[in-house]
Amino acid sequence: MLSPNDIKKITGEAAARIVQSGMTVGIGTGSTAYWLIMALGQQVKAGLDIRCVPTSTHTAQLAAEQSIPLTTLNEVDNIDMTIDGADEIDPAGQLIKGGGGALLQEKMVAAASRELVIIADHTKLVSQLGAFPLPVEIIPFGWKQVQQRIETLYRTKSALRLKDQQPLVTDHGHYILDVHFQQIEDPAFLNTLLNTIPGVVDNGLFIDMATQSIIGYPDGSVKTHHFNRPNP
Ligand code: 5RP
Repeated sequence: MLSPNDIKKITGEAAARIVQSGMTVGIGTGSTAYWLIMALGQQVKAGLDIRCVPTSTHTAQLAAEQSIPLTTLNEVDNIDMTIDGADEIDPAGQLIKGGGGALLQEKMVAAASRELVIIADHTKLVSQLGAFPLPVEIIPFGWKQVQQRIETLYRTKSALRLKDQQPLVTDHGHYILDVHFQQIEDPAFLNTLLNTIPGVVDNGLFIDMATQSIIGYPDGSVKTHHFNRPNP
């Protein structure tokens, strides 16, 4: 049986194998994406010709260390394929993301992509989203008002994400509230409503965005699943 880290490794490596020369690739953030970046680094050294749009400063740094050619969202018309992790994946391919704090950039890069391939270990598959606290990115100004509004509207509890006992500040200068919904009955509806609250920048629900999942299992197998999505 593979260790949790080895499952992430084989999953990231399997995803790297579907990347082809000539592609513009969005590269995700997190411990599974780490292995994708390592594998892409090897493939680039062996001649794979790609350019990548990173989804966080951390990923940009890792990719640069691997000599992976980087570009930015502003410099590309669109992205062929983004490969990124997730915190929860439901049977329809709806996601909770943002456990690593990069949800805004991840969502913008995913939205500009023809394909969003999700890489994860089997523990991320759920029958219903919500056990993982939903990251909601908010602006620091008046953040307690936003927290109060979310908790009152949805009768939930939430926690401001901290780092070294201080509010964690995202790559874009925002805070993150982790909201304990427990069960999300209608992820698409919640996604839309949350984003209408003044002070909310975006939230970690990725609706109808994933086109494919690559899931790793402790026995060393990796399974691919395609989600039906209407043509963009
Ligand atoms: C970062 C993310 C990550 O993709 C998500 O948290 C999964 O990470 P990991 O592969 O480390 O479990 O959304 O914001």
